[in-house]
Amino acid sequence: MDFLELSHERCSVRNFDPRPVGEETLEKILEAGRLAPTAVNAQPQKIYLLKSREALEKLRGVTRMAYNAPVVLMVCYDEKVSWKATPYGDTYDSGEMDASIVTTAMMMQAAELGVGSLWARGFKAGDIEKAFALPENIHLVCLLDLGYPAKEGGPSERHSLRKPLSETVTEL
Ligand SMILES: Cc1cc2nc3c(=O)[nH]c(=O)nc-3n(C[C@H](O)[C@H](O)[C@H](O)COP(=O)(O)O)c2cc1C
Repeated sequence: MDFLELSHERCSVRNFDPRPVGEETLEKILEAGRLAPTAVNAQPQKIYLLKSREALEKLRGVTRMAYNAPVVLMVCYDEKVSWKATPYGDTYDSGEMDASIVTTAMMMQAAELGVGSLWARGFKAGDIEKAFALPENIHLVCLLDLGYPAKEGGPSERHSLRKPLSETVTEL
């Protein structure tokens, strides 16, 4: 499947099969994130892998966005490591963008391997950071729920609602 086909095929999954995601498959997904580009190659991402019942229950105690995924990645960045645009007179911190690129790479690698995913940010990050006692310099950017889709796992109605390029791209 080429990349555009994969992009068409991928959809958010919100109902997962209990089948576990194998170690080798998980390693490939994480490896795709490791290879993702980051500003000045600082690699500020910090990824917490949750697959034990205890860890998943703790997460589900503070957010419903883990759904019934057998694996959840908490994608964070370390503000002590992320690149800042201060030399250019800007306060911009690239940590969130870097973590997003890493997440995108993992999401697409998962899709290529037939593993469903959900990128989720509908939660109060501070609650999750507190529940897992994350250090102060580590900021949670999103969750990436992973697992094999259940029969009724997706796509949702929203999936097909893509705007035409004429609405989102402007030639200047
Ligand atoms: C930054 C971001 C945050 C999202 N947060 C949530 C979320 O909290 N809960 C949820 O169910 N879906 C969430 N989604 C999934 C989007 O709703 C979904 O990607 C979008 O509707 C398009 O559907 P598709 O992924 O099936 O193509 C999020 C996606 C992104 C990129």
